[in-house]
Amino acid sequence: MFTDLILFRYGGAFQPRCTSLQEYIASEWRENGQHDGLDAVIMAIANGSRRVQQHVQQAALGDAYGSTGQTNFQGEIVQHLDKVTSDIFVEVLRQSGHVAAIGCEEIERPVIVEGDVADGYIVMMDPLDGSSNIDVGVSIGSIFGIWQKKPGETVNDDSLLRPGNQQVAAAYVVYGSSTVLVLATRNNVYGFTLDSASGSFVLTHPNIKIPENCPYYSTNEGNYKVLDRPTQEAITLLRNKYSQRYVGSLVADFHRNLLKGGIFAYPADQTRKDGRLRLMYEANPLGFVAEQAGGAASTGHERIMDIVPQQLHQRTPLILGNKDVVEATVSVIKGG
Ligand code: AHG
Ligand code: MN
Ligand code: MN
Repeated sequence: MFTDLILFRYGGAFQPRCTSLQEYIASEWRENGQHDGLDAVIMAIANGSRRVQQHVQQAALGDAYGSTGQTNFQGEIVQHLDKVTSDIFVEVLRQSGHVAAIGCEEIERPVIVEGDVADGYIVMMDPLDGSSNIDVGVSIGSIFGIWQKKPGETVNDDSLLRPGNQQVAAAYVVYGSSTVLVLATRNNVYGFTLDSASGSFVLTHPNIKIPENCPYYSTNEGNYKVLDRPTQEAITLLRNKYSQRYVGSLVADFHRNLLKGGIFAYPADQTRKDGRLRLMYEANPLGFVAEQAGGAASTGHERIMDIVPQQLHQRTPLILGNKDVVEATVSVIKGG
Protein backbone atom coordinates (compact mmCIF):
# COMPACT_ATOMS: atom_id res chain seq x y z
CA MET A 1 0.00 0.00 0.00
CA PHE A 2 1.07 3.61 -0.26
CA THR A 3 2.60 4.25 3.12
CA ASP A 4 6.18 4.22 1.92
CA LEU A 5 6.75 7.94 1.51
CA ILE A 6 10.40 8.35 0.62
CA LEU A 7 11.95 11.27 2.45
CA PHE A 8 14.90 13.03 1.01
CA ARG A 9 16.80 16.16 2.09
CA TYR A 10 15.77 19.31 0.27
CA GLY A 11 17.45 22.54 1.37
CA GLY A 12 17.75 21.35 4.96
CA ALA A 13 14.03 20.56 5.38
CA PHE A 14 12.50 17.19 4.73
CA GLN A 15 10.23 17.36 1.73
CA PRO A 16 8.25 14.11 1.54
CA ARG A 17 8.41 12.65 -1.94
CA CYS A 18 4.90 12.90 -3.33
CA THR A 19 3.32 10.07 -5.25
CA SER A 20 1.73 11.03 -8.54
CA LEU A 21 -1.51 9.61 -9.91
CA GLN A 22 0.49 7.76 -12.59
CA GLU A 23 2.76 6.15 -9.97
CA TYR A 24 -0.20 5.16 -7.82
CA ILE A 25 -1.95 3.49 -10.75
CA ALA A 26 1.25 1.83 -12.00
CA SER A 27 2.02 0.40 -8.61
CA GLU A 28 -1.45 -0.35 -7.25
CA TRP A 29 -3.21 -1.52 -10.37
CA ARG A 30 -0.71 -3.02 -12.79
CA GLU A 31 0.83 -5.23 -10.10
CA ASN A 32 -2.61 -6.54 -9.24
CA GLY A 33 -3.42 -6.94 -12.94
CA GLN A 34 -6.66 -5.08 -12.33
CA HIS A 35 -8.79 -3.47 -15.00
CA ASP A 36 -6.60 -3.48 -18.12
CA GLY A 37 -7.06 -0.17 -19.90
CA LEU A 38 -8.74 1.53 -16.96
CA ASP A 39 -5.54 3.42 -16.24
CA ALA A 40 -5.83 5.09 -19.66
CA VAL A 41 -9.41 6.12 -18.85
CA ILE A 42 -8.41 7.61 -15.48
CA MET A 43 -5.45 9.46 -17.01
CA ALA A 44 -7.81 10.85 -19.68
CA ILE A 45 -10.11 12.13 -16.93
CA ALA A 46 -7.10 13.68 -15.16
CA ASN A 47 -5.87 15.34 -18.37
CA GLY A 48 -9.35 16.61 -19.19
CA SER A 49 -9.87 18.00 -15.68
CA ARG A 50 -6.53 19.85 -15.90
CA ARG A 51 -7.86 21.65 -18.99
CA VAL A 52 -11.27 22.22 -17.40
CA GLN A 53 -9.64 23.71 -14.31
CA GLN A 54 -7.95 26.32 -16.50
CA HIS A 55 -11.26 27.19 -18.17
CA VAL A 56 -12.94 27.46 -14.76
CA GLN A 57 -10.19 29.76 -13.47
CA GLN A 58 -10.22 31.95 -16.59
CA ALA A 59 -13.96 31.85 -17.40
CA ALA A 60 -14.66 35.47 -16.51
CA LEU A 61 -11.59 36.69 -18.38
CA GLY A 62 -12.40 34.80 -21.54
CA ASP A 63 -16.06 35.75 -21.62
CA ALA A 64 -16.97 32.13 -20.91
CA TYR A 65 -19.25 33.00 -18.04
CA GLY A 66 -22.95 32.89 -18.22
CA SER A 67 -25.34 30.92 -20.31
CA THR A 68 -25.30 30.07 -23.99
CA GLY A 69 -28.92 31.24 -24.09
CA GLN A 70 -29.90 27.70 -25.06
CA THR A 71 -31.97 25.23 -23.09
CA ASN A 72 -30.88 21.58 -23.21
CA PHE A 73 -33.13 18.57 -23.74
CA GLN A 74 -33.51 18.36 -19.96
CA GLY A 75 -35.08 21.81 -19.96
CA GLU A 76 -32.06 23.36 -18.24
CA ILE A 77 -30.22 26.53 -19.26
CA VAL A 78 -26.85 25.53 -20.76
CA GLN A 79 -23.91 27.49 -19.33
CA HIS A 80 -20.93 28.13 -21.61
CA LEU A 81 -18.77 26.00 -19.34
CA ASP A 82 -21.25 23.10 -19.43
CA LYS A 83 -20.66 22.83 -23.19
CA VAL A 84 -16.91 23.46 -23.05
CA THR A 85 -16.32 20.83 -20.36
CA SER A 86 -18.56 18.28 -22.09
CA ASP A 87 -16.59 18.69 -25.33
CA ILE A 88 -13.24 18.38 -23.53
CA PHE A 89 -14.12 15.18 -21.69
CA VAL A 90 -15.71 13.53 -24.76
CA GLU A 91 -12.54 14.32 -26.70
CA VAL A 92 -10.05 12.95 -24.13
CA LEU A 93 -12.17 9.87 -23.38
CA ARG A 94 -12.43 9.04 -27.09
CA GLN A 95 -8.66 9.52 -27.46
CA SER A 96 -7.93 7.22 -24.50
CA GLY A 97 -8.46 4.22 -26.82
CA HIS A 98 -10.26 2.30 -24.06
CA VAL A 99 -13.72 3.90 -23.95
CA ALA A 100 -16.50 2.18 -25.92
CA ALA A 101 -19.35 4.55 -25.03
CA ILE A 102 -20.06 7.76 -23.12
CA GLY A 103 -23.26 8.96 -21.46
CA CYS A 104 -23.24 12.66 -20.66
CA GLU A 105 -25.63 15.00 -18.90
CA GLU A 106 -25.26 17.52 -21.74
CA ILE A 107 -25.79 15.03 -24.60
CA GLU A 108 -29.21 13.47 -25.14
CA ARG A 109 -28.08 10.24 -26.78
CA PRO A 110 -25.17 7.96 -25.84
CA VAL A 111 -21.89 8.63 -27.65
CA ILE A 112 -20.89 5.25 -29.11
CA VAL A 113 -17.17 5.38 -29.90
CA GLU A 114 -16.46 4.03 -33.38
CA GLY A 115 -14.38 0.91 -33.50
CA ASP A 116 -15.95 -0.32 -30.26
CA VAL A 117 -12.67 -0.92 -28.44
CA ALA A 118 -12.15 -4.46 -27.21
CA ASP A 119 -11.80 -4.00 -23.47
CA GLY A 120 -14.03 -0.95 -23.64
CA TYR A 121 -15.21 0.97 -20.66
CA ILE A 122 -18.52 2.77 -20.50
CA VAL A 123 -18.26 6.20 -18.86
CA MET A 124 -21.24 8.13 -17.53
CA MET A 125 -20.41 11.74 -16.72
CA ASP A 126 -21.65 15.02 -15.36
CA PRO A 127 -18.95 17.17 -16.94
CA LEU A 128 -19.76 20.21 -14.86
CA ASP A 129 -21.71 19.81 -11.64
CA GLY A 130 -22.95 22.91 -9.82
CA SER A 131 -23.48 25.06 -12.91
CA SER A 132 -25.46 27.64 -10.94
CA ASN A 133 -22.24 28.39 -9.05
CA ILE A 134 -19.95 28.96 -12.06
CA ASP A 135 -20.39 32.74 -12.23
CA VAL A 136 -20.00 33.35 -8.50
CA GLY A 137 -16.65 31.65 -7.91
CA VAL A 138 -18.06 28.83 -5.75
CA SER A 139 -16.66 25.27 -5.97
CA ILE A 140 -17.94 23.17 -8.86
CA GLY A 141 -16.87 19.79 -10.19
CA SER A 142 -17.02 16.86 -12.63
CA ILE A 143 -18.40 13.39 -11.85
CA PHE A 144 -17.68 10.03 -13.58
CA GLY A 145 -19.12 6.53 -13.22
CA ILE A 146 -17.20 3.75 -14.99
CA TRP A 147 -18.53 0.34 -16.09
CA GLN A 148 -16.76 -2.27 -18.21
CA LYS A 149 -18.56 -3.56 -21.26
CA LYS A 150 -19.45 -7.25 -21.18
CA PRO A 151 -16.95 -9.56 -22.97
CA GLY A 152 -17.75 -9.72 -26.67
CA GLU A 153 -20.57 -7.19 -26.30
CA THR A 154 -21.27 -4.89 -29.25
CA VAL A 155 -22.04 -1.69 -27.41
CA ASN A 156 -25.36 0.01 -28.14
CA ASP A 157 -27.61 2.46 -26.30
CA ASP A 158 -28.89 -0.20 -23.93
CA SER A 159 -25.32 -1.07 -22.89
CA LEU A 160 -25.32 2.11 -20.80
CA LEU A 161 -28.36 1.13 -18.72
CA ARG A 162 -26.44 -0.81 -16.08
CA PRO A 163 -27.09 -0.65 -12.32
CA GLY A 164 -24.53 1.20 -10.24
CA ASN A 165 -23.55 -2.02 -8.46
CA GLN A 166 -21.78 -3.07 -11.70
CA GLN A 167 -19.42 -0.05 -11.72
CA VAL A 168 -15.71 -0.95 -11.65
CA ALA A 169 -14.63 2.56 -10.62
CA ALA A 170 -15.86 6.09 -10.07
CA ALA A 171 -14.14 9.45 -9.87
CA TYR A 172 -14.93 13.07 -9.29
CA VAL A 173 -12.99 16.32 -9.45
CA VAL A 174 -13.64 19.40 -7.30
CA TYR A 175 -12.51 22.74 -8.75
CA GLY A 176 -12.32 24.69 -5.51
CA SER A 177 -9.65 26.28 -3.31
CA SER A 178 -7.61 23.42 -4.72
CA THR A 179 -8.36 20.99 -7.54
CA VAL A 180 -8.81 17.52 -6.11
CA LEU A 181 -9.43 14.30 -8.05
CA VAL A 182 -10.92 11.50 -5.96
CA LEU A 183 -10.67 7.99 -7.46
CA ALA A 184 -12.55 4.97 -6.13
CA THR A 185 -12.19 1.29 -6.98
CA ARG A 186 -13.45 -1.60 -4.82
CA ASN A 187 -12.58 -0.73 -1.17
CA ASN A 188 -10.08 1.92 -2.28
CA VAL A 189 -10.74 5.67 -2.24
CA TYR A 190 -7.74 7.91 -2.91
CA GLY A 191 -7.52 11.69 -3.37
CA PHE A 192 -5.01 13.52 -5.58
CA THR A 193 -4.41 17.27 -5.62
CA LEU A 194 -3.36 19.13 -8.76
CA ASP A 195 0.11 20.60 -8.32
CA SER A 196 -0.18 23.65 -10.59
CA ALA A 197 3.62 23.98 -10.76
CA SER A 198 4.20 20.54 -12.25
CA GLY A 199 0.70 20.01 -13.70
CA SER A 200 0.50 16.56 -12.12
CA PHE A 201 -2.01 15.16 -9.66
CA VAL A 202 -0.25 14.23 -6.41
CA LEU A 203 -1.48 11.77 -3.78
CA THR A 204 -2.73 13.83 -0.81
CA HIS A 205 -5.62 11.78 0.61
CA PRO A 206 -4.63 8.08 0.82
CA ASN A 207 -7.26 5.52 1.81
CA ILE A 208 -10.22 7.85 2.46
CA LYS A 209 -12.89 6.56 4.87
CA ILE A 210 -15.93 8.59 5.90
CA PRO A 211 -15.34 9.57 9.58
CA GLU A 212 -17.62 7.94 12.16
CA ASN A 213 -18.50 11.38 13.50
CA CYS A 214 -21.19 13.27 11.52
CA PRO A 215 -21.06 17.06 12.09
CA TYR A 216 -22.92 18.23 8.97
CA TYR A 217 -26.14 17.85 7.02
CA SER A 218 -26.53 19.23 3.51
CA THR A 219 -29.99 19.88 2.07
CA ASN A 220 -31.89 22.66 0.35
CA GLU A 221 -34.05 23.84 3.25
CA GLY A 222 -36.04 25.91 0.75
CA ASN A 223 -37.70 22.67 -0.33
CA TYR A 224 -38.89 21.77 3.18
CA LYS A 225 -42.42 23.09 2.49
CA VAL A 226 -42.93 20.65 -0.42
CA LEU A 227 -41.64 17.53 1.34
CA ASP A 228 -44.05 14.86 2.51
CA ARG A 229 -44.58 14.55 6.25
CA PRO A 230 -42.18 11.66 7.01
CA THR A 231 -39.42 13.39 4.99
CA GLN A 232 -40.07 16.66 6.82
CA GLU A 233 -39.63 14.74 10.08
CA ALA A 234 -36.36 13.25 8.81
CA ILE A 235 -34.98 16.68 7.83
CA THR A 236 -36.11 18.16 11.19
CA LEU A 237 -34.15 15.46 13.02
CA LEU A 238 -31.04 16.31 10.96
CA ARG A 239 -31.53 20.04 11.56
CA ASN A 240 -31.81 19.53 15.31
CA LYS A 241 -28.68 17.40 15.47
CA TYR A 242 -26.14 18.69 12.92
CA SER A 243 -24.77 21.93 11.46
CA GLN A 244 -26.04 22.89 8.02
CA ARG A 245 -23.56 23.12 5.16
CA TYR A 246 -25.06 23.51 1.65
CA VAL A 247 -22.95 24.77 -1.28
CA GLY A 248 -25.43 23.94 -4.02
CA SER A 249 -22.80 21.92 -5.89
CA LEU A 250 -23.42 18.25 -5.11
CA VAL A 251 -19.80 17.29 -5.70
CA ALA A 252 -18.50 19.97 -3.28
CA ASP A 253 -21.07 19.13 -0.60
CA PHE A 254 -20.25 15.44 -0.96
CA HIS A 255 -16.47 15.98 -0.89
CA ARG A 256 -16.70 17.89 2.39
CA ASN A 257 -18.94 15.22 3.90
CA LEU A 258 -16.62 12.45 2.66
CA LEU A 259 -13.59 14.01 4.37
CA LYS A 260 -15.22 15.48 7.49
CA GLY A 261 -18.33 13.31 7.91
CA GLY A 262 -21.84 14.33 6.96
CA ILE A 263 -25.04 13.51 5.13
CA PHE A 264 -26.39 15.00 1.88
CA ALA A 265 -30.13 14.79 1.23
CA TYR A 266 -32.01 15.75 -1.91
CA PRO A 267 -35.26 13.80 -1.34
CA ALA A 268 -38.24 13.54 -3.63
CA ASP A 269 -40.82 16.28 -3.08
CA GLN A 270 -44.22 17.37 -4.41
CA THR A 271 -42.61 19.26 -7.29
CA ARG A 272 -39.96 16.60 -8.02
CA LYS A 273 -41.62 13.22 -7.55
CA ASP A 274 -38.55 11.41 -8.94
CA GLY A 275 -36.04 13.69 -7.24
CA ARG A 276 -33.79 16.30 -8.84
CA LEU A 277 -30.44 14.58 -9.25
CA ARG A 278 -29.55 12.14 -12.03
CA LEU A 279 -29.07 8.47 -11.27
CA MET A 280 -26.43 7.51 -13.83
CA TYR A 281 -23.90 10.33 -13.52
CA GLU A 282 -24.51 11.88 -10.10
CA ALA A 283 -26.06 9.36 -7.68
CA ASN A 284 -24.41 6.15 -8.94
CA PRO A 285 -20.80 7.42 -9.10
CA LEU A 286 -20.95 9.23 -5.75
CA GLY A 287 -22.85 6.30 -4.26
CA PHE A 288 -19.99 4.04 -5.38
CA VAL A 289 -17.39 6.36 -3.81
CA ALA A 290 -19.41 6.62 -0.60
CA GLU A 291 -19.79 2.84 -0.22
CA GLN A 292 -16.07 2.14 -0.86
CA ALA A 293 -15.35 4.72 1.89
CA GLY A 294 -17.70 2.98 4.33
CA GLY A 295 -20.75 5.14 3.68
CA ALA A 296 -24.14 4.60 2.05
CA ALA A 297 -26.38 5.94 -0.72
CA SER A 298 -30.15 5.52 -0.78
CA THR A 299 -33.19 6.91 -2.57
CA GLY A 300 -34.91 6.98 0.81
CA HIS A 301 -36.47 3.63 -0.03
CA GLU A 302 -33.75 1.52 -1.68
CA ARG A 303 -29.99 1.36 -2.26
CA ILE A 304 -29.10 3.70 -5.13
CA MET A 305 -26.74 1.21 -6.75
CA ASP A 306 -29.40 -1.52 -6.97
CA ILE A 307 -31.68 0.54 -9.24
CA VAL A 308 -31.93 -0.96 -12.73
CA PRO A 309 -32.03 2.16 -14.93
CA GLN A 310 -34.79 2.58 -17.51
CA GLN A 311 -33.36 5.61 -19.30
CA LEU A 312 -30.08 7.49 -19.47
CA HIS A 313 -31.08 10.71 -17.75
CA GLN A 314 -33.53 9.44 -15.18
CA ARG A 315 -33.64 11.27 -11.88
CA THR A 316 -33.58 9.92 -8.34
CA PRO A 317 -33.92 11.12 -4.77
CA LEU A 318 -30.54 10.91 -3.02
CA ILE A 319 -29.59 10.41 0.63
CA LEU A 320 -25.79 10.08 0.74
CA GLY A 321 -23.00 9.95 3.35
CA ASN A 322 -22.39 8.44 6.80
CA LYS A 323 -23.87 4.94 6.77
CA ASP A 324 -25.52 5.12 10.23
CA VAL A 325 -27.04 8.54 9.58
CA VAL A 326 -28.26 7.57 6.09
CA GLU A 327 -29.88 4.43 7.52
CA ALA A 328 -31.54 6.37 10.35
CA THR A 329 -32.80 9.03 7.91
CA VAL A 330 -34.14 6.39 5.50
CA SER A 331 -35.94 4.67 8.34
CA VAL A 332 -37.81 7.89 9.17
CA ILE A 333 -38.58 8.65 5.49
CA LYS A 334 -40.02 5.15 5.16
CA GLY A 335 -42.24 5.97 8.11
CA GLY A 336 -40.36 3.44 10.15
P1 AHG B 1 -25.77 20.39 -12.41
O1 AHG B 1 -25.09 21.70 -12.31
O2 AHG B 1 -24.90 19.31 -12.98
O3 AHG B 1 -27.12 20.49 -13.09
O4 AHG B 1 -26.06 19.88 -10.93
C1 AHG B 1 -26.63 20.75 -10.03
C2 AHG B 1 -27.23 19.97 -8.90
C3 AHG B 1 -26.23 19.60 -7.81
O5 AHG B 1 -24.92 19.96 -8.09
C4 AHG B 1 -26.72 20.36 -6.61
O6 AHG B 1 -26.63 19.59 -5.44
C5 AHG B 1 -28.16 20.66 -6.94
O7 AHG B 1 -28.23 20.77 -8.34
C6 AHG B 1 -28.63 21.92 -6.32
O8 AHG B 1 -30.01 21.99 -6.58
P2 AHG B 1 -30.86 23.17 -5.93
O9 AHG B 1 -30.38 24.43 -6.57
O10 AHG B 1 -32.30 22.82 -6.28
O11 AHG B 1 -30.60 23.12 -4.44
MN1 MN C 1 -24.76 17.83 -11.53
MN1 MN D 1 -23.91 19.27 -14.80
